[in-house]
Amino acid sequence: MPRRLGRDELNAELRASEPGIFPSLLACDFAHLEREVRAVEAAGVPALHLDVMDGHFVPNISIGVPIVEAVRRITDLPLDVHLMISDPAKYIEAFRKAGADSLTIHIEAVPDPRSVLDKIRSLGALAGLALNPPTPLSAIEASLPHCDLVLVMSVMPGFGGQKFDSVALEKLRELSGRADVDALLEVDGGVGLETVGSCAEAGAELFVAGTAIYKTDDYAATIERLRFEAQSMTEAQ
Ligand code: DX5
Ligand code: ZN
Repeated sequence: MPRRLGRDELNAELRASEPGIFPSLLACDFAHLEREVRAVEAAGVPALHLDVMDGHFVPNISIGVPIVEAVRRITDLPLDVHLMISDPAKYIEAFRKAGADSLTIHIEAVPDPRSVLDKIRSLGALAGLALNPPTPLSAIEASLPHCDLVLVMSVMPGFGGQKFDSVALEKLRELSGRADVDALLEVDGGVGLETVGSCAEAGAELFVAGTAIYKTDDYAATIERLRFEAQSMTEAQ
């Protein structure tokens, strides 16, 4: 029976895992999905990041409910599901039922996402809100009290392996400096050994990394190095 945490427990567990390195399965070898999950699980990651793309909100199509459900069956790790889709409200129940522990929607897809975020919480999952590099923080201001996590994108969503956009650092700095924001701060896109430290320094707590992990030979060593880089920047403050 998979171990499923309640919202508060999961929130506390993710906070305690900081710096939490979340492997993004988008960059893994889908022909060996179980092996790819097991390898990062053995490295002690606190969660897995799953990228759902609909070919409409973003110009790419990736995975959907059946893969989330399949991953759920083989691991107890929390599943951090990033919905890059135009109409997330329509699908959140299905993704929750499939095993998502956190569900992140995009402000660019749902201009007033408060009721959708509340719905995600009512289903027992952490509610996440993502914003793209060109989107200002003011766009999510009214929704912040409804968020358990804020996902600051450091690339335009749609593809792995893109170059980190440092506009994310300004947003992380501003959010982490605010006493009234207690959502977890997550960064996604182009996060690797060269960029993870500056993200940590700017206040990120959770770090999504696809290419940086899955395109190396030794995932565990890379995860450990990413954690080390993030940790040393946090401790240096
Ligand atoms: C981008 C996705 C990311 C992606 C990150 O649209 O949301 O999660 O997998 O991949 P890397 O780490 O390769 O930039
Ligand atoms: Zn993502």
